[in-house]
Amino acid sequence: MLTDSHYNSYLVLLIRRTAFARSNVLPSGETQRGASRPREKVENYLVAENLKKAYQEGSKEVIALSGINLSLKRGEILVIFGPSGSGKSTLLHLLAGLDRPTEGKVWLDGADLSGFSDEELAKLRNEKFGLVFQFYHLLSEFTILENVILPLFIRRKRGSCKIYQKKAISLLTEFGLSDRMNFRPAQLSGGEQQRVAIARALINNPEIIFADEPTGNLDREASNSFLESIQKLNQKNHQTFLLATHNQAVAKIASRLLNLREGRIV
Ligand SMILES: Nc1ncnc2c1ncn2[C@@H]1O[C@H](COP(=O)(O)OP(=O)(O)OP(=O)(O)O)[C@@H](O)[C@H]1O
Ligand SMILES: [Mg+2]
Repeated sequence: MLTDSHYNSYLVLLIRRTAFARSNVLPSGETQRGASRPREKVENYLVAENLKKAYQEGSKEVIALSGINLSLKRGEILVIFGPSGSGKSTLLHLLAGLDRPTEGKVWLDGADLSGFSDEELAKLRNEKFGLVFQFYHLLSEFTILENVILPLFIRRKRGSCKIYQKKAISLLTEFGLSDRMNFRPAQLSGGEQQRVAIARALINNPEIIFADEPTGNLDREASNSFLESIQKLNQKNHQTFLLATHNQAVAKIASRLLNLREGRIV
């Protein structure tokens, strides 16, 4: 069971070993925000401006995104819909500050993310974003319960381990995993791991949840239950969602849908 005294060693482990840690670790310094947008342009919570992403594969360049413009208002459920290889994950990673664009900008609440250091981006993600990765990125060394609690530990929100645990147990119960809390990720099915990743993304009460194929491994019942949870959170807490998928069921709950094809919105 996690205790406060484990905090430092967990952080070190996280920083060293995992992509998830890279996306959540707290910086030591103050956040220096990037350049601000004029007030009248800040009505959109998240804005992508001419985003391009090219990957270098030897001498060949792979263009994953070629000039994406989009904006997202608070409280929207935006679904990015597109086939495999269309650039959904790449786009989500850029918007969530997990990767940097080759060209173009991402603005969050009026701040230009290109002005944030890696540490500042990590702090931002931990405090404001919930992230459900396509391949979960659960930490194999920890139990399911510990995996879900970790973002709270990293954030060091006021509260005791008991309070953290209570919240994690309640989320895991909501996602039908109350009898799996002390299992390790490798002992769970793909769909169960996906539900753990969803619970972990929600534990910090994020302003915005980015979810990449969140129903990819869920059966119809689990998928419907997840989509209902999203709608409830959206209505009750006014949380914003950006979902990437090729699943029509997810598309149905969108307040707005954008089609992505070969790195372009069509
Ligand atoms: N690290 C990388 N290096 C080189 N090419 C990459 C890299 N990541 C993605 N790509 C390429 O960029 C394109 C978009 O990939 P991306 O993973 O964003 O697609 P996707 O829509 O999420 O697909 P899927 O539905 O299969 O998850 C693909 O052609 C992919 O091969
Ligand atoms: Mg993908």
